[in-house]
Amino acid sequence: RKDVGHISVGSKGFNDLIAGGIETQAITEVFGEFGSGKSQISHELAVTVQLPEELGGLDGDCVFVDTENTFRPERIKQIANGFELDLEDVLQRIHVARAFNSSHQILMVDKINELIQNGTNVKLVIVDSLMAHFRAEYVGRESLAVRQQKLNQHLHSLQQIANTYNVAVFITNQVQAKPDSFFGSPTKAIGGHVLGHASTYRIWLKKGLAGKRIARLVDSPHLPEGECVFKITNEGIVD
Ligand code: GTP
Repeated sequence: RKDVGHISVGSKGFNDLIAGGIETQAITEVFGEFGSGKSQISHELAVTVQLPEELGGLDGDCVFVDTENTFRPERIKQIANGFELDLEDVLQRIHVARAFNSSHQILMVDKINELIQNGTNVKLVIVDSLMAHFRAEYVGRESLAVRQQKLNQHLHSLQQIANTYNVAVFITNQVQAKPDSFFGSPTKAIGGHVLGHASTYRIWLKKGLAGKRIARLVDSPHLPEGECVFKITNEGIVD
C-alpha cells in the first residue's frame, strides 16, 4: 500500500502501539464496554485529523457518522483548545451525519462518496457506533444471516472509500464487559466474524484503575500484540 497516512490518537503510548496512529486505507475498530472511551477517541481523532502532518494529522476533514447521538460539539471545542486550531473552523471541518436506522447508515456511505467527489478533503470517516442500529433491528437468530450480510456490505463500502481516497475509517463497537477475559480471545465481540475479518486493526478498550484506560491491540496484519495505558482528560486523550 502506497502513501499510507497516520492520525494521532493524542497519547504517545497509544500511537506507539499502532505504529504512529490510525492508518489510512484501513478500517480500525475499537471495541469495549460502555464508558471505555470509544466516543472520546472518536472526538479526539475528529480534531487531530485536521492538524498538519508534522503534528500528527493529515490536514483533512472528518465525516462523523453518528448513530446514537453521541456527537458533542462542546467536547470538540474543549479538545481543540489544546491545539492551535481555530475553533469555528474545526467544527466546520467535521461533517456530522446522523443515521436514523441501519438502511440510512448504509446509504450514508454514498453521501460520503459524493462529498469527497465534490472536493472535500476527507481523510477520516468515523462510524460511532457501527452496530447499534443493526443490533436493535435484527433481533433473533433467524435474522442473523441477513444482519451479517448487510453489515458485510456496509463494511465493504467503507473499505472501498478507505482505499479509493486514502482515507482512514474508524468504527466503534460496544461489547459487554467480560470479567477476567481481557487477555483471552475476544471472538464473541458483537458483530461476530464479519466484523473481525473486515477490520484491519482491532483495539480492545478496558477501564482501568483511577480513571485510566487500557488499549490492547488484538488484531493487526503486521504489528505485534500489545497494550498501553491512557487517560481521558478535559483536553482529550493523553498518556
Ligand atoms: P458507550 O458510548 O456508552 O458505549 O461508551 P464509550 O466507550 O463511547 O465511552 P465514552 O467514550 O463516551 O467515554 C466516557 C468516559 O469518558 C466517561 O466515563 C469519562 O470518564 C470520560 N469523559 C467524557 N467526557 C469527558 C470530559 O469532558 N472530560 C473528561 N475529563 N472526561 C470525559
